[in-house]
Amino acid sequence: MNNGTILSGTNLSKKYGDLEVVKHVTISINAGEFVCLVGKSGCGKTTLLSLLSGLERPTTGEVKLDGTDITKATEDQLALFRRENVGFIFQSFNLIPTLTAWENVALPLFPIKMSGDERHRRATELLEKMELGHRMDHLPAALSGGEKQRVAIARALVNNPKVLFADEPTGNLDSSTGDAIMEILTKLHTEKGVAILMVTHEVELAKTSQRLIRMHDGQVIA
Ligand SMILES: Nc1ncnc2c1ncn2[C@@H]1O[C@H](COP(=O)(O)OP(=O)(O)OP(=O)(O)O)[C@@H](O)[C@H]1O
Ligand SMILES: [Mg+2]
Repeated sequence: MNNGTILSGTNLSKKYGDLEVVKHVTISINAGEFVCLVGKSGCGKTTLLSLLSGLERPTTGEVKLDGTDITKATEDQLALFRRENVGFIFQSFNLIPTLTAWENVALPLFPIKMSGDERHRRATELLEKMELGHRMDHLPAALSGGEKQRVAIARALVNNPKVLFADEPTGNLDSSTGDAIMEILTKLHTEKGVAILMVTHEVELAKTSQRLIRMHDGQVIA
């Protein structure tokens, strides 16, 4: 496994108008590392994840993902780069309500050059791995919370990302479903060597990670 830096943010800041919610954050994550990000509600965790994953542009600073400075990329380049390298699990699932579970998972693959067969195989295999083989044709509204989250995880993994961002992936789930999701993520990390940056409120979960990063008021404090 390559143990070099896979993701780094240097002097990252984000301002919304006069409000600076991320303040000069410098952070780096090694390939295959499992890092937890903790801190009070509103301290800037989701915003920092958005900057590091290229969902949002920083006001200052730069982000390098697998050697590419994504802050210099055009919108089109960034979209393509994200599709090929980044997985993101949102706290609120963010599934598209009019698409089935299978279609939600396969969607990120459509802009990538790939045969229909390959696309079909990848999305189906992942859903089966998430024990959702019998729910592939369900719309999100007909799935339970844990099932939705597993669809969201499958979608985040369908492009074989180098880095997986997870924003409170167990936040909306009961504790046993949450445990199952954590097991999936931990397995992914140990078996596939995917680097994971996970936001969590739960100290117990954070203890299972290799490294803990604490944020306070827009800054990394430890
Ligand atoms: N688009 C926006 N415009 C203005 N302010 C924003 C915007 N997005 C976030 N904020 C503010 O930035 C701060 C940090 O928000 P962020 O979502 O990053 O916090 P968080 O640490 O993820 O909190 P939580 O644990 O509750 O999810 C908050 O005070 C929020 O109100
Ligand atoms: Mg948040």
